[in-house]
Amino acid sequence: MKHLKIVALASGSGSNLQSIIDAIEKKQLNAEISLVVSSKRKAGVIARAEKYNIPVIVVERRIYKDNIRGFSAKIAQVISDFSPDLILLCGFLSFLSEEFCQLYENRIFNIHPSLLPAFGGQGAYGIRVHRMALKAGVKVSGCTVMFVDAGQDTGPIIVQKCVPVLEDDTEESLAQRVMTAEYQAYPEAVRLFGQGRLSISNNTVKISQRKDED
Ligand code: GRF
Repeated sequence: MKHLKIVALASGSGSNLQSIIDAIEKKQLNAEISLVVSSKRKAGVIARAEKYNIPVIVVERRIYKDNIRGFSAKIAQVISDFSPDLILLCGFLSFLSEEFCQLYENRIFNIHPSLLPAFGGQGAYGIRVHRMALKAGVKVSGCTVMFVDAGQDTGPIIVQKCVPVLEDDTEESLAQRVMTAEYQAYPEAVRLFGQGRLSISNNTVKISQRKDED
């Protein structure tokens, strides 16, 4: 597996970022987190990154209001010095501009707490996603790791993991079960990328056979 330079974009606690850090520490991933960009000044992810001496830059989303292009351009500017191989959205509460998605085409991942295309798109974030799943009465839910394109949760799907929905589930209990699946799925997808096994055709990801040295 090639050594990956990763930049993470986050807005919250960063527990998914922790799953990547843990996989690196356990040598399951040949990678480094070169930078964390936080879109909120008080996000929990900042302390988490500092604990591991990962540099953090805050680019506050609220300052840009509806100027997604300006916000994305600022992020592109701060990360360019780090020449990332891969950008991971780890609970990042903003969409990115088309220009940004093109600049890092097929090199941005996101993780979403449902089995896309169900319960994705505008307004589907956080606990709301699990509320939607319970309301729909689905018997399984899960998480999706996908490439980011200019759409909203529409990029090619890389890895999905299922969990059961139980009859006595609350939004919180379902969220917790899905989160456990997320901690498996995100490192797995990053590893496939680092092994050079992902290719995209017709918005579908193909995963090639593992080579011996990986
Ligand atoms: C996760 O549920 C992820 O799927 C979604 O945002 C949440 C982030 O949680 N995109 P954390 O900040 O990684 O704990």
